[in-house]
Amino acid sequence: MNELKKIPFSPPYIDESVEREVLESLRSGWITTGPKVRALETEISKLAGVSHSLCVNSATSGMMLALHWYGVRPGDEVIIPAYTYVATALVVQHLGAIPVIVDIQDDFNIDTEKIREAISPKTKVIIPVDFGGWPCDYEAIQKVVEEKRELFKPDNETQEKLGRVLIMADSAHSIGAEYKGQPCGSLADLTVFSLHAVKNVTSAEGGNIAINMPEPFKSEEIYATMRLWSLNGQTKDAFTKSQGGSWRYDIVYPGFKINMPDVCAAIALAQIRQYKDRLWPERKRVFDEYTSLFENEDWAQLPPFKQGATESSYHLFALRLIPRNSELRDKVIQQAAEVGIALNVHFIPLPELSIFKEKGYQLSDYPMAKDQFEGVITLPIYPQLTNEDCQRIFETIKQVVTESHNVAIN
Ligand SMILES: Cc1ncc(COP(=O)(O)O)c(C=O)c1O
Repeated sequence: MNELKKIPFSPPYIDESVEREVLESLRSGWITTGPKVRALETEISKLAGVSHSLCVNSATSGMMLALHWYGVRPGDEVIIPAYTYVATALVVQHLGAIPVIVDIQDDFNIDTEKIREAISPKTKVIIPVDFGGWPCDYEAIQKVVEEKRELFKPDNETQEKLGRVLIMADSAHSIGAEYKGQPCGSLADLTVFSLHAVKNVTSAEGGNIAINMPEPFKSEEIYATMRLWSLNGQTKDAFTKSQGGSWRYDIVYPGFKINMPDVCAAIALAQIRQYKDRLWPERKRVFDEYTSLFENEDWAQLPPFKQGATESSYHLFALRLIPRNSELRDKVIQQAAEVGIALNVHFIPLPELSIFKEKGYQLSDYPMAKDQFEGVITLPIYPQLTNEDCQRIFETIKQVVTESHNVAIN
């Protein structure tokens, strides 16, 4: 019997250009932060529509650095959605602040009305998450922040200068996506991308902070500060110090050590150079193929992907079962695994995780997050996936769902 082809969930895209960039870095005599990181920052800034962006070693550490830069501290509140990866909450907790978890809408993204209800005089930051690459409604979020401006209580110079709650987008999924014709990166005050191994553009592990603070902030100054703080607060990076006669340095801030190595940046650099022309269109092809396969099935609800000039990065294809049925969801994933197809669930909502349950959070208090979770199955989506693979995935899912419906009827 023929072995069925295995379909992994999210293998990295490694072509000759990636190998070439990495080899060049390895052979250059310099593998940690240096010219490749700088070149990657330039490419990401271009894609994100900002003048400056800083590479770090993960989105998690990028978000922590950004919150720390804004002076978030114990007792402050940060509003986040229930439907996200835990990093969005942990970065808040690591600074001693309180994540205020609110429910989502049918498009998986944070519910603006819930933000309105949750904003208090302790709120310092809102972290919208662009689920699956679909941008949040940034105009609506900005409107709420403006409306609640008088509640804001700054307690440092930076906060005073902004005079309102900071919007820091968790755009771990949405590099290259657009909201009303504007690229992710230019929609919030600060935007953090993930370059983790399963993301649209990857450096194995990595993150990037796109800087878009309004006047009178100066992006190049914020970049310089954050860069210093990402390198122990050391006045010279290792690359500069390694040039002859340049050994003397000072530590001017108790910073973090979260810089991105060049050898990692090389992977992402080769990918991002072909992102708009090849990688993004290929993800879109897979997404469109799924859409055409599932759209006529009355048990399938499709994820959002395009509305006017708002368009996804096509990071995830989050299919939802109608009606929601977590047992059937699990059965589909299990039976697909048995024929070599890796499906997934994004996400287990925060209130369902032990660390939040122990604090008394209950999923039933987040009805939309609960509803999505009970029916969601995320499908593989990457350039290497063929339309035939999509067809096989569709047929496998359809078979399990149809069998289960037939059992229910008989
Ligand atoms: C929504 C979201 N935020 C943050 C992260 C953290 O990204 P990183 O692994 O780069 O720290 C992830 C990673 O999967 C994510 O999905």
